[in-house]
Amino acid sequence: GTPIRVALLGCGTVGGEVVRLLNEQADELAARIGAPVELAGVAVRRPHKHPELPEGLLTTDAAALIGRTDVDVVVEVIGGIEPARTLLLEALKSGKSVVTANKMLLAEDGATLAEAADASGADLYYEASVAGAIPLLRPLRESLAGDRITRVAGIVNGTTNFILSAMTASGAGYADALEEATRLGYAEADPSADVDGYDAASKAAILASLAFHTRVTAADVHCEGIRGVTAADIAAAAALDCTIKLLAICERVPGGPQGDPESVSARVYPAIIPRSHPLAAVDGAFNAVFVEAEAAGQLMFYGQGAGGAPTASAVLGDLVAVARNLVVGGRGPRESSYASLPVRPMGAV
Ligand code: HSE
Repeated sequence: GTPIRVALLGCGTVGGEVVRLLNEQADELAARIGAPVELAGVAVRRPHKHPELPEGLLTTDAAALIGRTDVDVVVEVIGGIEPARTLLLEALKSGKSVVTANKMLLAEDGATLAEAADASGADLYYEASVAGAIPLLRPLRESLAGDRITRVAGIVNGTTNFILSAMTASGAGYADALEEATRLGYAEADPSADVDGYDAASKAAILASLAFHTRVTAADVHCEGIRGVTAADIAAAAALDCTIKLLAICERVPGGPQGDPESVSARVYPAIIPRSHPLAAVDGAFNAVFVEAEAAGQLMFYGQGAGGAPTASAVLGDLVAVARNLVVGGRGPRESSYASLPVRPMGAV
């Protein structure tokens, strides 16, 4: 078939792996999709930092790259609210499908992106935004669409889990563990987003929105990070045969802000859990999420939640989905038509 042309925005830890996988698996992907996938261009801030890429592909002008008529799909791995939001809205409005890993943007303004996608008929996929390699959003959005989800809870930040695991296993200091997590490519550009819980809160907002067919933003999520967790806390938990994990918990709860029968509660905080609990065994940059649904019962999703290659796997999976949709002239599920289940005010647990 006609090649599917991709504009890649950002080429850091994740973007670099996306390029590598696209090149290495070009033939297999083409066979799976029914059309080859080609890079039309890569927008970066500092082209001289990317000697590995053909010079002709590199540009500093992301808006111009998106506007090119030969671009079908935009893959965004820049992160942050702006310029990502403006660029992605531009792409969606012009009917170009978007694959993004941008949890911060989705958690702040996913509704606007979804509306733009639905208005133009473009696709919006963001599996990589939550829990890295773990297929989690597709199951919530598609596989469980016929069920009623009651709870989504687990470990969704690799950096803090790595830090807490290191402090627990070896009594490592907080600062050393954070440095190591950054070196391994798990931490955000500004690691305070990890340690203060905001990264997990963004992911909780995305999970709750999909699970409960409503709009939860990061500002709705009660959020406590791990900065205050000390070696003494961990020792005290260990004495009780427990361990400390940063958990994100999203659930349907009875009652709501306006006397509603039911609402959504989303929160992130360091929790003391028994060592016998399955989440206690989740170490390093791994993530694990339990999903509970009325008919399905309890499901567990486990795998690498951070790092270049695992996150790129999720981006590539989305790219294949979008490309397949383009080949058959279809698209993924609509999102802007959500019914609105009220959200609990932040802090009300
Ligand atoms: N900084 C994030 C984490 C990367 O540590 O989980 C994956 O979203």
